[in-house]
Amino acid sequence: MKNLKDYGIEMWDKAKIISFRKTLLNWYDLEKRDLPWRRTKNPYHIWISEIMLQQTQVVTVIPYYERFLEWFPKIDDLANADEERLLKAWEGLGYYSRVRNMQAAAKQIMTEFNGVFPSHYHSILSLKGIGPYTAGAIASIAFDLPEPAVDGNVMRVIARLFEVNADIGDPKNRGIFQEIMTILIDPDRPGDFNQALMDLGTDIESAKNPRPEESPIRAFNAAYLHQTYDKYPIKLPKKKPKTLYFQAFVIQNEKNEFLLEKNTSGRLLGGFWSFPLIEQSIEPQQLNLFNTEKTVEQPRLMSQEKNFERNYQYQPKWTSSQFEVVKHTFSHQKWHIRLKEGFVKNSDHLTSENITWVKIKDLEKFPLATPQKKMMATYFNENKN
Ligand code: ADE
Repeated sequence: MKNLKDYGIEMWDKAKIISFRKTLLNWYDLEKRDLPWRRTKNPYHIWISEIMLQQTQVVTVIPYYERFLEWFPKIDDLANADEERLLKAWEGLGYYSRVRNMQAAAKQIMTEFNGVFPSHYHSILSLKGIGPYTAGAIASIAFDLPEPAVDGNVMRVIARLFEVNADIGDPKNRGIFQEIMTILIDPDRPGDFNQALMDLGTDIESAKNPRPEESPIRAFNAAYLHQTYDKYPIKLPKKKPKTLYFQAFVIQNEKNEFLLEKNTSGRLLGGFWSFPLIEQSIEPQQLNLFNTEKTVEQPRLMSQEKNFERNYQYQPKWTSSQFEVVKHTFSHQKWHIRLKEGFVKNSDHLTSENITWVKIKDLEKFPLATPQKKMMATYFNENKN
């Protein structure tokens, strides 16, 4: 394993480390944000906040956090929660696997730890969905253990502090930041120390508009002192997300109900309901290009409508309404969804157990992910005239 010297990092002496801790914590005592999860030492509450904070910013998290605790006040409630309610509690936050993992971890706590949240770093780390960052955050904040919690914000602050020549986007480099933090962390107030760096990283030392001259730790900051602040942290460009193309079918029956399907794939957005979606292997415009090619005979491609009729066993009357392409970007995939509208009669039979007819007013009762919400917004907005 590489060590600090391999990265050209000279660690400070003991006196400087102590002075750094003091400076940072004095600032935190004066400036810390008053947040609901900072008024508790309950590891279950801190865990929820930490998982939610991995998805979005503090202001967005607060109402989700409070509602989650109302719905599932104890670990036991989370362990036994109904899937649909669980997904509903997470709706809008994204990365639904995180809340499923939380439920799996809650079950683990009930069975392996007698319903008591484990209080050692390695037992916390053994819980499903909890990696080194979250385990460090819970261990330090709830149990006062001197464990670092290294996320992107902390890496950015540390990279500037020591001019770390390592790409912070590459998980292989996490170890170097973990090592620096293990030396720096205040053994008496590890939770506050970690959270002070998080606060610095999201505001004064933010990625986009940092104000290094206002930083309480500027006197320790090598990049600031050496005027290399623009160079750190090092973050190399990521691979672009892959674009996938879908056809969505907005089908209404004679009772003005819409056809919804549950995604049972176990992949992205498993468990959510949406208008029936069929992935297309080729981008639609490309299909047209192929079809206008006169000299080479192309195999006849089945129309999207026929594809639907074959898969779902309904014969809708298709309309020629045009809708804007719905776009949604996940971290590793970009979806382009075209909507096709159709109407069916005699819809009493259900052709699969994963589909159902739903009245408009009941749509929101189903767990719906953001792409489906965007499809509904496009369909209903463009359809209201
Ligand atoms: N981001 C992640 N964890 C946090 C915390 N405990 N306080 C503020 N921001 C955070």
